[in-house]
Amino acid sequence: MSGTVNSNPASRSLRQLLRFTLRGYWPAVGALFLLMLFTYVMEGIGFSLVIPLLQAMLSPGELAGGNVLQRALAHLSGLIPQDWRIAGLLGLLIIVFSLKSLGLIAASGLTRWFVTTLRMNWVVTAFLATIRAPYSEVAARPHGETLQNIIGETETAARGVLLVIEAAARAIQITVLLTILLLANWRATLFVLAIGAGAFALSWRNTGRLSINAGTTRQAIRQRANDVVSESITGLRTVKLLDIVGSRTKQLRQMLRVSRRVDARFEVVSSLPSNMIDLIAAVLGSAVIIFMTVVLGVRIEEAIPTTALFGLVFMRLASASGYLFSRRLHITTSVPSLWVVRDMMATVPEQTRGSAPFTGFTGGIEFEDITLQPPGRQTIFDGLNMRIAPFGLTAIVGPSGSGKTTLVDLIVRLREPDHGRILVGGRDIREFDVRSLRACVGYLSQDPQLFNGTIAENLLLGRPDATEADMLQAASRAHVHEFVSAMEKGYATPLGRGGLLLSGGQRQRLALARELLRDPDLYIFDEPTSALDQETEAIIGELINELSRAHPVVIISHRPDVISGAHVIYRIERGKAVEMSLPEFPKVSAGSAP
Ligand SMILES: Nc1ncnc2c1ncn2[C@@H]1O[C@H](COP(=O)(O)OP(=O)(O)OP(=O)(O)O)[C@@H](O)[C@H]1O
Ligand SMILES: [Mg+2]
Repeated sequence: MSGTVNSNPASRSLRQLLRFTLRGYWPAVGALFLLMLFTYVMEGIGFSLVIPLLQAMLSPGELAGGNVLQRALAHLSGLIPQDWRIAGLLGLLIIVFSLKSLGLIAASGLTRWFVTTLRMNWVVTAFLATIRAPYSEVAARPHGETLQNIIGETETAARGVLLVIEAAARAIQITVLLTILLLANWRATLFVLAIGAGAFALSWRNTGRLSINAGTTRQAIRQRANDVVSESITGLRTVKLLDIVGSRTKQLRQMLRVSRRVDARFEVVSSLPSNMIDLIAAVLGSAVIIFMTVVLGVRIEEAIPTTALFGLVFMRLASASGYLFSRRLHITTSVPSLWVVRDMMATVPEQTRGSAPFTGFTGGIEFEDITLQPPGRQTIFDGLNMRIAPFGLTAIVGPSGSGKTTLVDLIVRLREPDHGRILVGGRDIREFDVRSLRACVGYLSQDPQLFNGTIAENLLLGRPDATEADMLQAASRAHVHEFVSAMEKGYATPLGRGGLLLSGGQRQRLALARELLRDPDLYIFDEPTSALDQETEAIIGELINELSRAHPVVIISHRPDVISGAHVIYRIERGKAVEMSLPEFPKVSAGSAP
């Protein structure tokens, strides 16, 4: 698991989390709150109307009541002529409950819309933050975990926010209902409240830790399970050939078993109150009746309207409290996900200082005292100096793992040196805007990446506005046209994930055509012919020589014939670059080529 997340969620401030989560959304939250308040006040008024209704039915002549609520409602009843009183109150009841229903409908729609917006923005921001984070960091992280964090954890976090809003709605409902009960009979209400609060406080402390733990365990399992699946699918060929299907499946099953145990225990605890709702209501209801009749000395017949109100409101209160209890636990389990989302957003982007537009490599590239040592790894460069001419072919050779690919990563700023500078036309490349710098580099990597889509879509990736004629020209220069024209659907042929429906050499040629179409200034070829047959290799070698007449070209290769046209050859060894002459090359490389 990555070290940036899960640093003991419980110890981090929840207020900070909430402030982050709702940043920019406070007006929407306020509107939602007002809507909910309106809805539950309507519900409260609806329930309260039971008192004058019962009174009008039981003793039509009388208006005066005992407590505050009864008096206020009696006053309201008095406004309606006696003959119409029951019909009037019933009509009022229907209007009030209609308003409540409308409020509920609007609130549920708004809540969903709000939470979906939140999640949408999180996914996009987290995706961008990951793409913009330092390349070597993201590339080294397990893919399944990154995927799970962007897609899965944002979903869980958004569900957490949804639950918070629902819980807030219940809290508002409980407050309104309690106010009504207090107005109806404050002593009985306080009595019930004392019992309820005691039970709540007892369970609160004991269950909080359980849900945090459940949330953290679930999150870790989700990330690891995703890794196992994503790695197995990416490395399907290896999984089959090494015959490790069984052990991989076993790993997955073990993780899911832990998840099952945690989930089941959590579910039992969190749904305890809602599964005991009738019992709780019966116990509390009996307690109130006994309290009113025995302690307060109220005659049962006198108390009928108030008791009816208590009965009605009680069921609501009990279900709202039970809901609140279980939601609180569910909310707590989503806290670790909220932290992951927050951490993803806070990722520091890769260093992209510099704003000068980059115009080209006229003046060549100068490496000046470059040192690089990744934390905890061997030194890659140790005072490396070299110069790439603004035209012609520069070859780079050296043993496997000596840092040849890393050198290219430095030019396109996928990585930054620890010390030293890279100069283009005398200016530090850090002064330039990274995107305009990369636009001038055509980089055919050792392991070219194609994307799910058609051949044409892949070709046009770097230059979507290219004409069909340009595309066909690039395709035929890179010897792509030969194999594409033999395909039934031609350039509309889908490539499958990562271009896996093509051979290694076809992929390499397609990636080359893609670079040619971009028409960059500098070309970099990292082992360009490693997957090609001899005949194609010769043709591509010729193409590289042709390009080097108009562009600076860097080629990393061990093959003498590919670099035979080089103007300069550098050998990377022990962190330094040594210039050598062409005749020296075959002798030196013979023993060290991988
Ligand atoms: N992201 C990374 N973090 C730390 N070390 C890395 C990273 N990527 C590569 N290395 C290390 O840097 C060194 C140079 O790697 P690089 O890929 O540049 O070698 P190379 O000369 O291109 O080798 P090859 O000829 O096999 O392609 C290697 O020892 C490698 O283990
Ligand atoms: Mg390499």
